[in-house]
Amino acid sequence: MTAAAPWPYPFWIAHRGAGKLAPENTLAAFGLGLSHGYRMAECDVTLSADGVAYLLHDERLERTTDGRGVAVEQSWDALSRLDAGAWHGARHAGEPLPSLATLAGFAQARGLALNLEIKPGPGDDARCGRIAAAETARLWAGRSPLPLMSSFSRVALQAARDAAPGLPRAHLFEWLPADACEQALDLGCVAIVAHFSGLDAAAISLAHAAGLRVLSYTVNDAAVAERLRAAGIDGLITDAIDRFDPATG
Ligand code: G3P
Ligand code: MG
Repeated sequence: MTAAAPWPYPFWIAHRGAGKLAPENTLAAFGLGLSHGYRMAECDVTLSADGVAYLLHDERLERTTDGRGVAVEQSWDALSRLDAGAWHGARHAGEPLPSLATLAGFAQARGLALNLEIKPGPGDDARCGRIAAAETARLWAGRSPLPLMSSFSRVALQAARDAAPGLPRAHLFEWLPADACEQALDLGCVAIVAHFSGLDAAAISLAHAAGLRVLSYTVNDAAVAERLRAAGIDGLITDAIDRFDPATG
């Protein structure tokens, strides 16, 4: 049994800032999550063509902005002018895509901990991992807790480790492979983050025995949350910020 490192993060984590109740990955979402008592949020970090780290989930712009096309092909000057709120509702019209620097200022002022999921555009894994991690290390220098950097992309996690080895990293898995712990440890990760469908008490115990923490996404069902809590999960990422009380974490 390997002792897990101290874990400075809250149990409950608001997915994309506030789940589905505000435009995802915008400051409006983080503010809403905070107003529901959430002290930590997950969000998706990607890069503009000219290397600015900012928040966006999709490869393309259409679903969550008034822009068009592949996001990584566009400059930050163009991206920063887009409306990332109107798609969700008129009251959020004009909400911009936040840069990672803007998010850092907001989160540090409000005491919000972050799980920064590195979400590379197509073919951009190494550059995205490197710049997202280097920027995070610069923006959060001397602060605690540091953002937890996660990714499905092993190339991005490797680049993040090379660029900023002091940042905590987590390996994301959609389907939990038998060697998930070995894969995570191989990249110097402190945690695995797995879809809830593949997690049970045995998998969580195995990870704990390897010295890894275990988080799960995206848990919106009370029965699933209770099952995972009983199994020893270390944190849950949820859209249901209006149903789960983070004070119970
Ligand atoms: O980081 C957990 C979760 O956000 C991964 O899936 O597609 O919502 O980014 P996705
Ligand atoms: Mg995500």
